Formats: sequence, structure tokens, C-alpha cells
Amino acid sequence: MRKVLITGGNRGLGFKLAEVLSPKHHILLTARNLSSLNEAKRKITAIVPNASITTQELDVSRFDSVKAFHKWMLSTNTTVDVIVNNAGVNDENQLENKAFDIMNTNLFGIINLTETILPQLTQDGKIILISSMLGKLKLQPPSTQKLLQEKLTKQQILQFARDLIHNYKEGNYGIWSSHIQPLYKVSKVLTNAYARHVLADLVQPNQSIFCVHPGWVKTDMGGPKAPGEVKDGIFTSRYLIEELPYGRNPQYHAKYFNDKAQIEDY
Ligand SMILES: NC(=O)c1ccc[n+]([C@@H]2O[C@H](COP(=O)([O-])OP(=O)(O)OC[C@H]3O[C@@H](n4cnc5c(N)ncnc54)[C@H](OP(=O)(O)O)[C@@H]3O)[C@@H](O)[C@H]2O)c1
Repeated sequence: MRKVLITGGNRGLGFKLAEVLSPKHHILLTARNLSSLNEAKRKITAIVPNASITTQELDVSRFDSVKAFHKWMLSTNTTVDVIVNNAGVNDENQLENKAFDIMNTNLFGIINLTETILPQLTQDGKIILISSMLGKLKLQPPSTQKLLQEKLTKQQILQFARDLIHNYKEGNYGIWSSHIQPLYKVSKVLTNAYARHVLADLVQPNQSIFCVHPGWVKTDMGGPKAPGEVKDGIFTSRYLIEELPYGRNPQYHAKYFNDKAQIEDY
């Protein structure tokens, strides 16, 4: 039995992953809205009566919430074996300040949470960053691909995001091509860059990190036209948590896995 922390666990992929893992693992289920979080726990325990689920409020976009969550972990001596950075928003969300809100949740949120609670990750722990195939380098203009292949520091990665927030106007994406969902796409490109250039070296020698594309599936974000069902979208995360042995294997560490748990370039 492993302890698995899931962000954005009240609906969509985070909820499904919690449900599927709960017969065998302890779930630390988090979300920014407490009542929907409690409702999610109620739904899972209705299906899996012996599920072991702890709920805790966590808004990854607010550093005060991340710090309060960490304080709770310390005060309860909570450690986790797996961190699933799942919470995310996209260009279709009704957001007040779209560019900032998307970067803040999808990129800054992952960085703040992961780095804050890293000391509470067990020595052979795993970190999963739910990314997207839209974040692949090959979807970027060649000059941008080149920039991102160089070894980057965290500050440089953050600066790419800040520049986009600052310059962003409809139709003007600077060094980024204007593809579908440009803000969301850049947030995932930079999440991948953070994984590759920074987090891969930040974790302890026996810990591992993985970027995951869950596939295009029918959640609120994926929409009803998505070809996959929600259960398909957790295939790779479940594999990494339940089947891939714990302890670092350089073959898998800091790699990108597609929705069939296969490694691809990213
Ligand atoms: N569905 C797809 O086809 C697809 C494809 C590629 C990648 N992904 C990625 O998969 C992940 C999960 O997506 P999904 O399809 O399950 O989306 P979803 O159904 O829209 O669910 C998003 C989840 O993220 C939570 N969230 C948003 N902002 C948050 C914040 N600041 N703090 C904590 N939680 C927050 C939401 O909570 P609230 O209920 O409070 O809003 C919700 O639980 C995302 O990272 C997404 O980019 C999805």
C-alpha cells in the first residue's frame, strides 16, 4: 500500500485515478473546493467501502494554500510515496486573467507545490506531472524548440511564462506559434521543460519523475467530443504508480509517457 497525493481530485482525471487506486492504496485527495472534495470522497467510498482516503483543501494556484497544506503535512507527520500533479485549467475556462491564471495553476502551481512538499516525499517516491501532447517541443516553431533544448534554469523557464503573461494579446504569442489553446500549450511545454531541466536533478537519487499525456478524454476539460473515456485517461498514471517498480531506473526517470504508457520524445 502506497500513499498517493492527488491534486484536483474532486472531478475528472484526478477523481477517477483516486477511485481506481483506492482499493489498494491510501489516497490523499485534495481540491480547492472543500464541499466538492467531500462529495468526491463520499462517491468513492460508496463504490469502494474500505477505501482509505484523507481529504485536504489545496489550491495549487495560491502559495498561501500550498504553505497551509505543507504545514498540515508537517503537523500530522504525513509523507507521501507519490505526488500526482493533476490540477489544471485551459484556454476554454472562464478565467479573469487568462494568461496569468493558466500559468499560475498549470506551471507555477506545480513548481510551488512540488518544491514545497519535496521533503515529505519518501526516498523512493515518484512525482507525476500530468502534461499534454500539446506540450511537445515539436509543436513549437524551430527557433523556440532550439531555445528550450538548451539547459535551462528554473528562473529562465519562469521568465518564458512571465514574458507570455506580459505580452499576451489575442493573436500575439511572441516566440510561441499560435496553435489551438496557445496559453495552455505553453504552460505544458514549460512544465515539461521544468521536469527535464530542473526537477529531474532536484529530486533525491532514488526518486523518479514522469511527465504523462493522459490522452484526449471526456472530462469537463476534454469535452464530450473527446474520443477516450475518463477511465482511459488514467491508464498511464495507474501503470506508473502500481506497476513500475519503485526506486529510480534511468530508463524511465524524467521521461514522457503517452496514454499507452509508452515513452516518447518530448
Ligand atoms: N481531459 C483531457 O483530454 C486532457 C488531455 C491532456 C491533458 N489533460 C490534463 O489532465 C489534467 C486533469 O484534467 P481533466 O481533464 O481532469 O480536467 P477537469 O475535468 O477540468 O478537472 C480539472 C481539475 O483541476 C482542478 N483545479 C483547477 N484549478 C485548480 C487549482 N488552482 N487548485 C487545485 N485544483 C484545481 C479542478 O478543480 P475545480 O473543480 O475546483 O475547478 C478539477 O478538479 C490537467 O492537468 C489537464 O491539463 C487532460
